[in-house]
Amino acid sequence: MAKITLRQLLDHAAEHGYGVPAFNINNMEQGLAIMDAAAAVDAPVIIQASRGARAYAHDVMLANMIAALETIHPQIPICLHQDHGNEEATCATALNYGFTSVMMDGSLRADGKTPADFDYNVAVTRRVVDMAHWIGASVEGELGVLGSLEHNSGEQEDGHGAEGQLDRHQLLTDPDQAVEFVRATKVDALAIAMGTSHGAYKFSRQPDGEILAMDVVEEIHRRLPNTHLVMHGSSSVPQELQDMFNTYGGEMPQTWGVPVEEIVRGIRHGVRKVNIDTDCRLAMTAEFRRVAAQNKSEFDPRKFLKPAMDALRDLCRRRFEQFGTAGQASKIKVLPLAAMARRYASGALDPSTSGIASAAA
Ligand code: G3H
Ligand code: 13P
Ligand code: ZN
Repeated sequence: MAKITLRQLLDHAAEHGYGVPAFNINNMEQGLAIMDAAAAVDAPVIIQASRGARAYAHDVMLANMIAALETIHPQIPICLHQDHGNEEATCATALNYGFTSVMMDGSLRADGKTPADFDYNVAVTRRVVDMAHWIGASVEGELGVLGSLEHNSGEQEDGHGAEGQLDRHQLLTDPDQAVEFVRATKVDALAIAMGTSHGAYKFSRQPDGEILAMDVVEEIHRRLPNTHLVMHGSSSVPQELQDMFNTYGGEMPQTWGVPVEEIVRGIRHGVRKVNIDTDCRLAMTAEFRRVAAQNKSEFDPRKFLKPAMDALRDLCRRRFEQFGTAGQASKIKVLPLAAMARRYASGALDPSTSGIASAAA
């Protein structure tokens, strides 16, 4: 099956009331495990690569790996998405390598650290939208800065994320600005800030509405019912994975992630794409630790990687089932990029003038 665009997939998700997890990948084992899970439950997938992943694996390796995964699982629609593009060039090179969707994260300047102002964000995102829609590819924008409402700071992980202290209003997407942003940029999906952050250390306690502001999601959905919302930093950091990691020699201080039931609440209010990387990392590395601790003489990497892939597959499968993605792949008839490009050119996919079901129809 051909690769699917984010827009077509999320239009289908909106029409049928489900969410799609977007899993980050860096290597073959992650790709195989995610696709095994998708095939087991008939789920369409979003596979996303960060700038770090592209540098780690090389674009040509990632592009050919996705082509191989399409061959292995021809019945599963795959959206290949650039995670947190920092400037036009990052998005352009991704499209050149066959990505069907890009995120232009203009909430930060191109350095990936400095919060950007609204006008900068609109201008850079609109330029990427014009470029991507011309070939039929999709664009996710971001308004609001990811970070913690517990200590009013951004999150710096692996060189990406706002530095230093932030105001609470920067950490919560403003619904009025969201309406203006979508109208001005014509993005296909909008990432919003409501207190989630990347990495394992999101909350120092079970989150409540003070530190995980799901009411912001609900309000933005009320104002923008035709816009697909995206939740970043949506790993749940399951207690059992923390315990396993620590049982076998890890040192992860107690932490809390985003409860799955809050994500499901978001899906009821317009969230269609749910970004998950940390849980996938933890599922795999907890297995690495277990094998290393229990089989001290083991030196075949496959003996570490195979159980790690099984753990990742099981995690992905659970998320497909929890978000309602399971059972949807076979219902989708993938549109080629050229058909999407024609729909954009005709104005049919403008969220301010059309309903959500346009591309899915
Ligand atoms: O955006 C955050 C994702 O977890 C990707 O992380 O930049 O270390 O690949 P990364
Ligand atoms: P987590 O770190 O919570 O998995 O978030 C990943 C993410 O948002 C990637 O863009
Ligand atoms: Zn993110």
